[in-house]
Amino acid sequence: MDIKSIWQADTAFQDFPKLDESKKTEVCIVGAGLTGITAAYLLSKKGIKVILIEADRVLSGVTGHTSAKITAQHGIIYSELIETMGEKKAKQYYQAMQETMHFIKNEIKENQIDCNYEEQDAFLYTNDNAYLAQLDKEAEAYKTLDIPGELTSEMPLEIPFKKALKMTGQAQFHPLKYLQFMLEEAVKNGTEVYEQTVAMKLEYNRQHTVLTKDKHRVACDYLIAATQFPYIDHQGLYFAKMYAEQSYIVSGKYTGKYPGGMYINVENPTRSIRTATLNNKDTYLLIGGENHRSGESTEEKLCYDNLKAFAKEQFEITDISYQWSAQDFTTLDKMPYIGPITDDDPSIFIATGYRKWGMTNGTLAANIIADSIAEKDENPYNELFSPARFASKPMLKNLFKFNMEVAAELLKGKLDFIPPGTIDDLEINEAVITRVKGSRAGVYKDMEEKLHVLDTTCTHLGCEVNWNSADKTWDCPCHGSRYHYDGEVLAGPAKEPLRKLSLDD
Ligand code: FES
Repeated sequence: MDIKSIWQADTAFQDFPKLDESKKTEVCIVGAGLTGITAAYLLSKKGIKVILIEADRVLSGVTGHTSAKITAQHGIIYSELIETMGEKKAKQYYQAMQETMHFIKNEIKENQIDCNYEEQDAFLYTNDNAYLAQLDKEAEAYKTLDIPGELTSEMPLEIPFKKALKMTGQAQFHPLKYLQFMLEEAVKNGTEVYEQTVAMKLEYNRQHTVLTKDKHRVACDYLIAATQFPYIDHQGLYFAKMYAEQSYIVSGKYTGKYPGGMYINVENPTRSIRTATLNNKDTYLLIGGENHRSGESTEEKLCYDNLKAFAKEQFEITDISYQWSAQDFTTLDKMPYIGPITDDDPSIFIATGYRKWGMTNGTLAANIIADSIAEKDENPYNELFSPARFASKPMLKNLFKFNMEVAAELLKGKLDFIPPGTIDDLEINEAVITRVKGSRAGVYKDMEEKLHVLDTTCTHLGCEVNWNSADKTWDCPCHGSRYHYDGEVLAGPAKEPLRKLSLDD
């Protein structure tokens, strides 16, 4: 079983060096995913000097693990936005997505990017009577906002469902082939790319200066934090204004005749369906879903098993040779935070909270930020997506809810009963939570049977991490930090590794 995504297995990127000296630039972008690469492409085309740094390899993060639907159909959203923000803003949100989809289409067409771009209709469906009214309400919102779409009792794909809401003229593609072009262009235009270069801190010495883990500095006029979670907070308290969700995808060769369309249901468990072409000949079916709050003690293997069972039950699919997972953040009002990190500092930008709709939200973010830097322009969507936007009543309610859940997790982690003496039975490539010298500890046995013993207290704000048996990571249920089995940080907000413990006296 390949744990790389189908996109990663099908695309090879050149290696970029690690940053080994201090540098100066106009724009420093931290994070080489879709947002960072698209921003580097747009800025470098205008002759702006960019340095792009990535903690791991380019496109190794959430962009490499997406389902890659290019759509304005972001689940049930428009009826909610009308209710919480009014018709005008809901309409603006739709227009922003439409313009972003046109941007992607035009780039592909003008540059003849070979990335399996295909227009498809998108279907939001339910097979649960309890959700029929929500779907009706969303269809009303489409009418109010002039969104092309309709309720239907017929879908091209034969799966059990009671009602569906169709949005016409959406699209899908191979995200890494598309971004390979953008990255190569950015490099041709003078962008310097550094991999295995971890941004730790932001300092100010006449200029913003990014300090890396290896103690090198990148001084810049503008900084774009294009990491999934902003690696700097600047009193923005983003960890308290978002929650992280994990989702899973399985994929195998499809031997039937696929009738077209991209599908996602509204109820739990989520089922997201599309096809993709690999090697320019084989059709693969991608089934996603089983979403849950990151770090919840869930049996991740079961999430994959459920998706595989659904795939085999519903479709003509041969061996399921790929499975992967991704984490993404949702904001208080479900719209991403894009723009200056605070009102006081217009030269530090963040882009986060894509709610698993990263193809459109990430591309939109790159455009908004590149406009702000290159054109000194008032992008029409600045205010709508501003991280400092007005907190409406429903947002404040969610703020309270998110943080009550975090407080509950914090308490639960501290009070959990830990059964003693389970290390002896530990299988290779598995982990257990136990107690070591009075501390709650996580113990992982690697392939060489070496034990990695860690204090499970998250170094962000002290919640207790849980073992993710599918990805072999320690995940925090409070704000989504993820750690390698050896304790190193894979995803923030945490910056410091988990504390190592010893089993010896
Ligand atoms: Fe905030 Fe763990 S991510 S406490």
